[in-house]
Amino acid sequence: TNESVACPDKVGQKWRSIMKITVYNCRDFDERELFLKYEKELGVEIQLCTCAPTQESAALSQGSLCISIITTAMPAELLETFASYGVKYIVTRSIGYDHIDIAAAKRLGITIANSPYGPNGVADYATMLILMTIRKMKSIEMRGAVQDYTLKGLQGRELKDLTVGVIGTGRIGRTVLSNLSGFGCKRIAYDIYENDEVKKSGVHYVTLDEMWQQADVISLHAPLTEENHHMIGEDAISKMKDGVMIINTARGGLIDSEALIRGIESGKIGGAGLDVVENEFGLYYNDRREDILDNRELYLLRSFPNVTVSHHMAFYTDDCVRTVARNAIMGCTYFAEGKENPWEVK
Ligand code: NAI
Repeated sequence: TNESVACPDKVGQKWRSIMKITVYNCRDFDERELFLKYEKELGVEIQLCTCAPTQESAALSQGSLCISIITTAMPAELLETFASYGVKYIVTRSIGYDHIDIAAAKRLGITIANSPYGPNGVADYATMLILMTIRKMKSIEMRGAVQDYTLKGLQGRELKDLTVGVIGTGRIGRTVLSNLSGFGCKRIAYDIYENDEVKKSGVHYVTLDEMWQQADVISLHAPLTEENHHMIGEDAISKMKDGVMIINTARGGLIDSEALIRGIESGKIGGAGLDVVENEFGLYYNDRREDILDNRELYLLRSFPNVTVSHHMAFYTDDCVRTVARNAIMGCTYFAEGKENPWEVK
């Protein structure tokens, strides 16, 4: 739908009353109320649109200094269109910003920002996927649904006997490591920058090769960059332990889906929990139940009894939704006031 909802009142200081923000992909069922509340509290004018930012819907941003988007692709051509409507600041209501052409934005004089929120929602979800995967929860659910109450093939493993490897020890990765500290597993980590707090907590940093050789479970928490695109591919998988389990709540592009599928088919990979997949743009957050999707990998991954797939929703908690909406609008006010903005992508 291309419904656009203009907001009722303009309050606050004079500069703010003319500072307009267009929010794309606004979810009526949870975000709308929040934006209306922050509009009043922060004294800005917010235009709420349920549609995605596209060449067609870009015109809605006319007169807006800032726009807010979600994880829909923002290639150079689309940024150019927004620049032509006078948009100077784009805030993504997400932590990752790999869906935006940052270089093009810089060239066009558009400031890009993200809208971070507490790490616990995603970290809890990743921990849940680890437990679900080692205990074969998808198969248990599938059998229960057809009243098959047998045990054969459902034997799980215990975390105390396993080595869990975390890639990316930033806010989320560190919280996952801390969540895991109560389970008695051996915890190892890899990051391009090692963190002293992590080391002090009994976690051993290893090289990537050591990670592949030692980990029974690998959980990804690094942003997607040009350098680490497909970091888990044919070569890495061949070095991993037999039966390794892979959890991805970071970005689909970190894993080569075809290599992952081959690894599952051969039995090399014993299970996976995937909140994100490659080429999820346009699929996730839409009702596509009558459509034939152009993502064969997703069909295949969903079909495996040992692979749990969810639609990029590890973040989706009450606390995260509240914080992300507020920080998105706060960032716009910092930008308009020329204040230091902690969420600006440098
Ligand atoms: P963060 O910026 O606090 O931490 C990222 C860590 O990854 C940093 O320590 C960084 O040094 C490390 N890193 C960067 N490149 C690396 C590489 N090539 N190899 C290993 N480590 C590398 O970010 P945060 O908040 O922990 O989020 C991590 C990622 O989780 C985000 O970038 C985003 O893609 C994803 N995410 C997914 C969500 C979901 O709903 N599934 C929600 C929120 C974030």
